[in-house]
Parts: sequence; C-alpha cells; structure tokens
Amino acid sequence: MTTAIQLLIGLIMLTACTKSNLTDNENTLEPVVLDTSLRNLSPFPFGAAVNVGLLKNNNNYRQLVVREFNSLTPENAMKTRFIHPQQDTYAWADADYLVDFADEHNMRVHGHTLVWYKNLPDWIINFQGDSIAWEQLFRSHIQTVVSRYKGRIGSWDVVNEALNNEGTGMRPSLWLTKLGPDYIARAFQYAHDADPDALLFYNDYGNEYGPTKRNAIINLVKGLKDAGVPIHGVGMQMHTRVNREDQFHASAITNTATETGLLIHIAELDIAVNPDNNPDLVFTETLAAQQAQKYGHIVETFTGINTNQRFGITTWNVTDGDSWIPGTYNRPDWPLPFDASYQRKPAYDSIIAVFE
Ligand code: XIL
Repeated sequence: MTTAIQLLIGLIMLTACTKSNLTDNENTLEPVVLDTSLRNLSPFPFGAAVNVGLLKNNNNYRQLVVREFNSLTPENAMKTRFIHPQQDTYAWADADYLVDFADEHNMRVHGHTLVWYKNLPDWIINFQGDSIAWEQLFRSHIQTVVSRYKGRIGSWDVVNEALNNEGTGMRPSLWLTKLGPDYIARAFQYAHDADPDALLFYNDYGNEYGPTKRNAIINLVKGLKDAGVPIHGVGMQMHTRVNREDQFHASAITNTATETGLLIHIAELDIAVNPDNNPDLVFTETLAAQQAQKYGHIVETFTGINTNQRFGITTWNVTDGDSWIPGTYNRPDWPLPFDASYQRKPAYDSIIAVFE
C-alpha cells in the first residue's frame, strides 16, 4: 500500500515537474514545448503527400511538415508527366529537392508513382512503335527513375490503379493496350532489377468500398506474390468520407493485411466531409467531431495489425487549404487533420489519442 502511494506521489511530482518545468539553474519558469507530434508519437512512420512548390515557398507549410511527419510522398513531382516530359528529357529538380529535404529532416521518401494510366506526357500518348519499342520505353522509364534514387528512396508505388473502379476487371489503359495484362508483373521486375533493396507496392483505391474491389486488389496482389513477382506491399489510398461506416474501413485494413501478409501502407488518407457536393456546406463542430471519430478509428485499426506489416500512414496533402479534394471535385471540403491556417483539428487530437 505504502509503495503504491509513494509511487503515485512520485508520479504526480514527476508529471508536475515535466509540465511546468521549473528550471533549477535560474529560478525562472520556462514554458516547456511538449513534443507532441505525429512523427514523435506514432509507432510507425506517419507521412504526408507534399507539394514541392509549397515546401519551397511557404514557411508555415514547411514548418508544419518538418514538425509532424517522418515520411513524404511527392504529390505530383514523380508522376511521369512531370518527371519525364520528353522522351529524352527527365525533369529531376522538384523530385531532387524533395529527396534532399527529406534527408535533411530525417524523413523517408516513398516514391509515387512509376506506372499509372493518368498523368502521361503527350510524347507517350502519341508514341508510335512496335511492341518491342513500347516495352523498351516502359522499362527505361521505370529503371531510370528508380536508379536515380537508389539508396535514397526505399519504397515505390510501382503500379497505381490498374483495376477498374468497381473491381470487376482491369482498367483500360495505354499500358494494358500496348503491353498486355502482364505489364504489372513486368513493372515490378524492372523496378526490382534497378534497385533490389527497394520495397515495391501495388497502390489502389476503394479497398473500403466493399468486398468486390477489396478482393480484386487482394487477388491481384496474391497472384503476383504467388508467381514470384517481387512485390512487398499494398498501398490502400483510403480517400474516404465521413459517412462511411467503420466496418468498411476495418475490413479493408484487416482483411488486406491478413490475406496478403504484405506490408500495408494507408497511402493517401483523407476523409471528405462533403461527399454530396453541397456548395454551401459549413464545417461545423459536429462535422469536425464526426471526422475525428473516423480518423481515430482508421488509425486505431491500422495500429492493431501485425507490427511488422505496418509500413505507415500517409495523408494526401497536409492541410485543408492544400487538399486536392476541393479543386478536383469543385466543392468546399475539409478532409485533413490540419486546417487552412495550419492549426491542428479535432481529427489530429483523435489520431494522437490512439498513440498515447
Ligand atoms: C492527385 C493530385 O493530388 C492532384 O494534384 C493531381 O492533379 C491529380 O492527382 N490517387 C492518386 C494520386 O494516386 O496520385 C492522386 O493525386 C489522387 C488520387
């Protein structure tokens, strides 16, 4: 009993000291900066997709990124259209900036994305050549990008969104037309040959829509794995919405983890609060609280999977002010854990609460 009370008193004193931090050298009270940040409290890497222009030119944005995250995904800078604008020209500047920035701040970089049906430069869309020339173009793009960052970028989204929206088949794409359905397997092999140490991911959305899309992704990934293709992880984008029931997020995360056994990356998390495109919607406290609950549930579920499968969580963008959602869907929305004034929202607190 005495020991328990002593322990309790000790604990209270310790807490009091840390919180008020009476410095003993001078008799002054100094405020303590309690280092609560996603990067410090999360037991797995916590990241964001970043816009290189904002990182360079906006101090508030940069400081928030440095404080909160230890993993970065380039929002656009490594997409084919940007990084490979002409057949014989690569535009490395933004991608290099991001990789240097991450190094400087002890962050990892997750590469996004080597192969996608979207964001292709005109020279690829208009390319004329036989199947050998197409294969050469494809391999050379993948290997040039991966090789440049060998040893500096430890993981890649190799193929993005190869399945159709519903998960009933493959998505029509230039790559499918020109290279056939095995382009997916070959992309992984090419990336692996360029950097055998890199962790390679298949990335897609809609795992949380229901069993059809979820299982299509799981089956694709398992098929690759069983065929000996070098694939190490599944990226689930998780662009979700405040009115989707928890069970959909839970089964996306836990079933994919259990059934594939691979690394799991919640790769593009955001939670829209205006999925019905109401042009006059206002972000109320009620909406903020509902969104906070969803963030908490997703992060808690992810925290609960096998420790060695937790690759990390990445939000898609940093604040409500730079989110891709309002511009893409032409509506007001507030999908992220930080508001447009760089302040932490209730969603942020509910993520942190999972870690404490
Ligand atoms: C989005 C970017 O955020 C936008 O700036 C760009 O105009 C289009 O692409 N799934 C993905 C991401 O894999 O690459 C997309 O990013 C969002 C959906």
